[in-house]
Amino acid sequence: MNANAAVTNDYDAERVWRDFPILRREVHGRPLVFLDSAASSQRPASVVAAVERYETYSHANVHRGVYQLSQEATELFEGARERVRRFLNAPDVNEVIFVRGTTEAINLVAQSYARPRLQPGDEILLTALEHHANIVPWQLLAEQTGAVIKVVPMDRRGVIEVDAVSAQLNERTRIVACAHVSNALGTVLPVREIVQRAHARGAVVLVDGAQAVPHQRVDLKALDCDFYAFSAHKMYGPTGIGVLVGRESLLESMPPWQGGGDMILTVTFEKTTYNALPFKFEAGTPNISGAVGMAAAIDYIDSLGIDNIHAHEQRLLAIATGKLQRVPGLTIIGTAPQKASVISFTLDGIHPHDLGTILDAEGVAVRTGHHCAMPVMEFFNVPATARASFACYSRESDIDALIAALGKAREVFG
Ligand SMILES: Cc1ncc(COP(=O)(O)O)c(C=O)c1O
Repeated sequence: MNANAAVTNDYDAERVWRDFPILRREVHGRPLVFLDSAASSQRPASVVAAVERYETYSHANVHRGVYQLSQEATELFEGARERVRRFLNAPDVNEVIFVRGTTEAINLVAQSYARPRLQPGDEILLTALEHHANIVPWQLLAEQTGAVIKVVPMDRRGVIEVDAVSAQLNERTRIVACAHVSNALGTVLPVREIVQRAHARGAVVLVDGAQAVPHQRVDLKALDCDFYAFSAHKMYGPTGIGVLVGRESLLESMPPWQGGGDMILTVTFEKTTYNALPFKFEAGTPNISGAVGMAAAIDYIDSLGIDNIHAHEQRLLAIATGKLQRVPGLTIIGTAPQKASVISFTLDGIHPHDLGTILDAEGVAVRTGHHCAMPVMEFFNVPATARASFACYSRESDIDALIAALGKAREVFG
């Protein structure tokens, strides 16, 4: 399997599965069936090895030392930045800011881009299916500035129509912040069209790509959004690192987000001058091993081919949807025609948390709860859902294990 190859039909999920050592372990004396990749994916051995190699042989602080080790670490760190740029076809490496994750990226944009600009009555446009990470930073901002939050509604399938976005855009809309893919429902949003409509009204667009980057090709030049945020740990990389890609002209105009080392050029007690992009937004010692792991994760994705991963996951999504629909009493929440490999569901008579516990006893790890999307739960009038999500290493047999475990749950509660 190859990065740039056209979609192939010879995707070998068993081989891919074997690249992930953790998947070989057992839980409760049963083989682990990991179906919670939307929360955090597992890491292949190559990512674990890259991090270990760095920690064992190349660690030093970056950007500071003239000695060899520091230069090696700097090359690895800056190489990772270029790796991210190339993977997403971002225009310029200076637009790639390393942050802790999607959450921090969105907070950075809210506080550094939006806070100085927004006036009372200005509007921030969100959609009804956002993760809390793309709601709460804007609420904090609204409290700080007097700006108002507007929400684009979704339909009963969990679809956000472009026209529904347009209907909410007006001359007060300053920023549109929307998911690329919903973590709770799997809906893929028409982000290209949303960006076009928002730009036509003079609004800036932030796309929360946390659930998109691991599952589909993302081309930032084509997308043309102003900010794009995502996390490494959902794309086979480490926790504690993610990226904000921002339009250079906007980043240049923004004040630093945090102060400290690395983001400065000169400091006196009277005045500080700031470093150039991207360092202006990276105060303090960064997560160097995280960046190394993230680059290795991108190499791994490229070794399979993101289009092959997408095709594989879409196949699993179709199979799993078909099988789950045949489980008596099961309702799938989120039935958009364009979905990523996420299936939220409820089972009559069983609270999702109880369901999760029974499935766990069978070795099947699914997420249960509100998925950090309480407004979505409210919309569908459910307290919580169970959610199965697939990744490059998921296999058809994992779906069968889920279906069998659901059968057990129905017996227990039957
Ligand atoms: C759509 C979406 N946005 C944002 C986040 C937050 O990501 P992180 O916790 O890595 O900052 C998540 C994580 O679940 C997500 O699924």
